[in-house]
Amino acid sequence: MATLELRSVRKSYGATEVIHDVNLTAADGEFLVFVGPSGCGKSTLLRMICGLEDISSGDITIDGKRVNDVSAAQRGLAMVFQSYALYPHMTVYGNLSFGLENVGTPRAEIDARVREAAQMLRLEPYLERRPAALSGGQRQRVAIGRAIVREPRIFLFDEPLSNLDAELRVDMRGEIRRLHARLGTNMIYVTHDQVEAMTMADKIVVLREGRVEQIGHPLDLYNAPANLFVAGFIGSPRMNFLQGKVVGSEGNTRVEVEKLGTFETHTKVGALKTGDKVTLGVRPEHVAMERNDRGFTLAASRTEQLGHVTAIYFADPAFSVQLPGQVDIAQGSPVSLHVSPDAWHVFDAMGRSVSRSKAT
Ligand SMILES: Nc1ncnc2c1ncn2[C@@H]1O[C@H](COP(=O)(O)OP(=O)(O)OP(=O)(O)O)[C@@H](O)[C@H]1O
Ligand SMILES: [Mg+2]
Repeated sequence: MATLELRSVRKSYGATEVIHDVNLTAADGEFLVFVGPSGCGKSTLLRMICGLEDISSGDITIDGKRVNDVSAAQRGLAMVFQSYALYPHMTVYGNLSFGLENVGTPRAEIDARVREAAQMLRLEPYLERRPAALSGGQRQRVAIGRAIVREPRIFLFDEPLSNLDAELRVDMRGEIRRLHARLGTNMIYVTHDQVEAMTMADKIVVLREGRVEQIGHPLDLYNAPANLFVAGFIGSPRMNFLQGKVVGSEGNTRVEVEKLGTFETHTKVGALKTGDKVTLGVRPEHVAMERNDRGFTLAASRTEQLGHVTAIYFADPAFSVQLPGQVDIAQGSPVSLHVSPDAWHVFDAMGRSVSRSKAT
């Protein structure tokens, strides 16, 4: 177990800065997930923590000790890659034991650690096989096993499940969480999949273009996204956004949206003034189909029946709703919708969330 801290960490390749002033802390035993679109710097951050990549400025500390100049081998961390990076000519046993043999661990201890990891990951039947004779999921478990036998202070995972099919990914998600519960060791897990982030993390770090957009517990990010980017990135299906302007300058924010009407929110006007441009956000699952004098009506352009939910899409303006159960709506037919004031998110012209508060 360990605490990890990044303070004002920056990284440049040549003249191009790709990581800009990142600050974050992982508490003892915490499961941290870095999530963000392709190219936002997730792997670079992980590689800098691991010591595979230098940092251009700032500090990385593990248990309070600065490790900027400590080599990867001396940091006591273990990384699991998407590509597994197994040795094809070695058996599973050989792949698991190789790293320990290299640092001169006594044979009996190697054997004990390999067998314990194999038991934990249900790899015992395959110890004498080569990687080519394993399934993708089994190979990934060997790659994780190789990290476990090293008894690292922190596990680092870089998109370890992206080569697996959907069902196996769900299984492996559970398996890695169970491993975390059993070992109690910090894990830092990189993914671009927000569902993986939501389901696995104690704490999510949302990254965009080398900057931290928000850090928080999964449900805090879902309930109170700090800005438009996080609001659009976290949550599936994606949040709807409508452009509008503030009407009235007191109490709760009321927003007029062209063609749809004026909506009451539970957000305090605060620094906003009449006429300010804002974006209203609402999640598709928070829209009700009901006729209401403060509601609005749109023509359905497409529906998707998933069995347990029905998704309805509208084109003008772009909007979607997700209703529980099976709802039969013909294409082009009008649908009356209602959003309760507390379901609206309000973002200012800079895209920042206007802090939410209860109605007065
Ligand atoms: N060795 C390098 N030289 C120059 N630029 C690099 C180098 N490695 C990464 N970059 C750049 O740094 C940025 C961050 O890359 P990184 O691989 O960390 O992104 P990522 O979030 O892991 O993306 P993905 O989800 O696609 O894996 C990208 O713009 C990338 O082009
Ligand atoms: Mg990457």
